[in-house]
Amino acid sequence: MKDSETLLVWGETDVGWDANTPINETLDEHGNVPDAKRGFGIADPYAPKARIYDDPSVEALRQKLQQHNGYHELDICDPNELERAATIFWRDGFVVVRDLLNEENLAKFREGSSRVLREILRPDGEDGRKYITESNRLPHRYSYGTTSSSRQLLHDDAWASMVDLETTTPLLKKLFGGPDYVVVGAGGDLCLPGAVEYQHLHSDVYERFNLPEKRIEQAEALGIEIRRDEDSGEIEDRTKRLICDRTPAIITINFVMSDLTWENGPIRQIPGSHTAARQPPPPTEEPEWMRMCTLVGAKAGAGVIRDNRAWHGATPNLSREIRSLPNVEYGAPWIAGPHHGKTMPYKVWETLSEHGKHICRYVHEEPGVWPGGAGLNHSLGHVRKEAKQSVTSPPEHYKHLV
Ligand SMILES: [Fe+2]
Repeated sequence: MKDSETLLVWGETDVGWDANTPINETLDEHGNVPDAKRGFGIADPYAPKARIYDDPSVEALRQKLQQHNGYHELDICDPNELERAATIFWRDGFVVVRDLLNEENLAKFREGSSRVLREILRPDGEDGRKYITESNRLPHRYSYGTTSSSRQLLHDDAWASMVDLETTTPLLKKLFGGPDYVVVGAGGDLCLPGAVEYQHLHSDVYERFNLPEKRIEQAEALGIEIRRDEDSGEIEDRTKRLICDRTPAIITINFVMSDLTWENGPIRQIPGSHTAARQPPPPTEEPEWMRMCTLVGAKAGAGVIRDNRAWHGATPNLSREIRSLPNVEYGAPWIAGPHHGKTMPYKVWETLSEHGKHICRYVHEEPGVWPGGAGLNHSLGHVRKEAKQSVTSPPEHYKHLV
């Protein structure tokens, strides 16, 4: 049996470290090595020379990470520290909060993210590779969301039951200025041991600096004073800027399945970058300090609440442990609407709390309709595209949901 068939997303594992998968190799939608377009698989020019645990080039990077990886003093909040968490979030573009998951929820999320990862890794790669690399990504790095043929995992109880927790909802209400935010999706990202390359710094969403009325209302609900020019009635430039800074369109919570260490591929977050209009530096220009801005010290059960505009990226996993960060993605009240993809089966929506139902009001399907592609995760884009059309009833694990 393949080692990945019994994998768990925490603790030591034999999964990963596939020496047959070349450094910086990426695949296109059909599983071929592309000539030019690499999508999210932007190469790391400083990557180790081999995907081998004790290769000298891996050992050299390991030594550097052991010495320098992680913030000097990472702020970590308790779930009830709403003011402090909000201050840090608005200052840095992210905040780490411990114990967002209780024991039961951590166990449930670990089970779900282990189960889905087993499915992703099941097919063998070409020419002796242990796994198929996800289309347009670097080797040994996968997204729960983009490998899902419905694009989300809101059909899966492990994800759906995390949208409204007694620890997270007060924080989200605080950051969105009330209860009318929405769930837009759920997925998350992971890396296997042996993901030796850095993922390039990127933003998940771009600020458009638009100020529809609903955004201004949300800013007021957050306590921002809307200052206007006395003559023209126009909102002052400084206030416009503050509104944009404080009202990100999307906030994501990534939940930590195993303690983030200097060695197991902690996410890096560049503080203050959420309000930058410019692009993050490409890998060839990224300074060393940014490569070390990682969230070492966040423990299993914690969450990283992040403004999706903030520059971030995954880092090398040189350990023997999978680094998994499943997430739930929330939209601000000012972007909420019926345009969000319907990826949650009605029967799942029905199980939610009243507030859970409210925030999932735009993502649930009608009764009896199975969201296209839901329940099939695959590394290759073309398989997912076909499944989105052909999978219209629930696969085995989800049979009870229609
Ligand atoms: Fe990202």
